[in-house]
Amino acid sequence: MRYEIGNLKLKNRVFLAPMLEPNDIAFRLLCKRAGCGLTYTGMTSPLSRAKFNLEDKPALQLFGNSTKGIKSFMKKYDSQVSLWDFNLGCPSKLSKRLGHGAFMHEDLEDIREILKIMRASTKKPVTIKIRKSAKAIDIVKIAERIGIDAIGIHARTISQGYSGKVDYDFALTVKAAVNVPVIFSGDVNENNIEKILEDFDFVFVGRACIGRPEIFGNNINVGFGEYLKLAKKHKLFFRQIKYQAMNFSKGIVGGKRLRMKLIETESIEDIKTVMGRNK
Ligand SMILES: Cc1cc2nc3c(=O)[nH]c(=O)nc-3n(C[C@H](O)[C@H](O)[C@H](O)COP(=O)(O)O)c2cc1C
Repeated sequence: MRYEIGNLKLKNRVFLAPMLEPNDIAFRLLCKRAGCGLTYTGMTSPLSRAKFNLEDKPALQLFGNSTKGIKSFMKKYDSQVSLWDFNLGCPSKLSKRLGHGAFMHEDLEDIREILKIMRASTKKPVTIKIRKSAKAIDIVKIAERIGIDAIGIHARTISQGYSGKVDYDFALTVKAAVNVPVIFSGDVNENNIEKILEDFDFVFVGRACIGRPEIFGNNINVGFGEYLKLAKKHKLFFRQIKYQAMNFSKGIVGGKRLRMKLIETESIEDIKTVMGRNK
């Protein structure tokens, strides 16, 4: 079976969901090593002047409510990404204030303009990730007409945030509304992946893989020790490494005790000492 999004060939159907805080370069590389078919970055502003490390050749997710900066940003990074994604799902207070993410759904014209610019700025695939809403079906149809290559759907409403039941039937309605591949998101874990892949083309693994890249299944060591090596190599900030140590401690016996100790850490050496026996 061939797994494809536009002209991009994928080695499998299980992706790392876009997540702002967990998806640093070291974590993305680890997920790839663990067997993940495609890594997504967290939402990124095309106006950002930060330096991006894209060694894993990820899907780079953009957000915003105007076309400003998109063309030049995409030109700058196009050769370093596997595909481009646009965020139509963020339910945060900041997104509400700035009118982007899931709060853009009423602004069909703005969405159209942004997706057209993205489509025209690359030969690589372009995807969108959307939430459940009254306009979501209209939006995915517009996106498909513009030439968007796949749709990611997290079938929860803005007010549900990240909890409550994922509306599987709504995701199926999205799947039926378009001919491009659909990536399912929402409470995906090792117990339901196979079943969901009977109905959808790809899945996003989100919270279930935070601190647990082994969920991607390659059966090799992708524990915190491996994360730390990559984080040091890529010179990640101490506070990011500490945050990930907390995440990795969640899946292990005695994790609560470890976290109590991690709170006190002030250096990478401290973290190593606390996590030492959990490589
Ligand atoms: C910490 C965190 C950060 C997230 N950041 C993003 C983001 O930047 N862009 C995005 O499209 N979705 C983001 N999401 C949503 C996830 O991609 C996913 O759709 C959602 O968590 C539901 O999947 P899950 O139940 O498997 O976690 C984030 C989720 C979490 C938990």
